[in-house]
Amino acid sequence: MIRKILAEETYKVRQEVLRPGRPLKECFFEGDLEEDSIHLGYFVEEQPVAVATFVARKNAIFETPIQYQLRGMAVLPSHQDKKLGEKLLLKGEELLKSKNPDILLWFNARETAVAFYKKYGYTTTGPAFMIPNVCMHVVMYKTPTKL
Ligand SMILES: CC(C)(COP(=O)(O)OP(=O)(O)OC[C@H]1O[C@@H](n2cnc3c(N)ncnc32)[C@H](O)[C@@H]1OP(=O)(O)O)[C@@H](O)C(=O)NCCC(=O)NCCS
Repeated sequence: MIRKILAEETYKVRQEVLRPGRPLKECFFEGDLEEDSIHLGYFVEEQPVAVATFVARKNAIFETPIQYQLRGMAVLPSHQDKKLGEKLLLKGEELLKSKNPDILLWFNARETAVAFYKKYGYTTTGPAFMIPNVCMHVVMYKTPTKL
């Protein structure tokens, strides 16, 4: 029920979960349309209910040469706490590792989701910061050996 999808198939779920009340164009993220970006969706009755995107992006705070950034991890409220977030995250990790075992995965985590990511071995680094019009975030990552 997880499948690779197009960027445009992520937008509605992103909007409802991550940018409620904001225009759809705020749900288009940099890197969405790059060839090596991976968009995953979990479908129920042919509708995406959970999405996640993995974009090849380096963060200068890490030395690892090959890095991906997780973006737009979102599960519709009606489908949260059913392990869909876990399934998308683990599928993404599996796909990245098969692409290259030396990939570091990092992302800007909402503070409210830090405990979720810690369950899967991710570590926070640096101070929390505000993403304007969104909420407080902190950088989290997992090194290649732990992915
Ligand atoms: C955070 C989110 C992606 C998690 O996905 P989910 O499908 O609801 O979570 P899962 O059912 O896969 O949860 C797996 C485990 O993490 C825990 N968990 C889920 N969300 C959590 C949170 N926000 N804080 C702490 N623990 C959390 C679950 O209780 C579960 O624990 P268990 O294994 O001990 O039972 C989802 O709730 C969501 O989209 N939230 C709103 C948007 C958001 O914060 N996105 C992340 C942006 S960085």
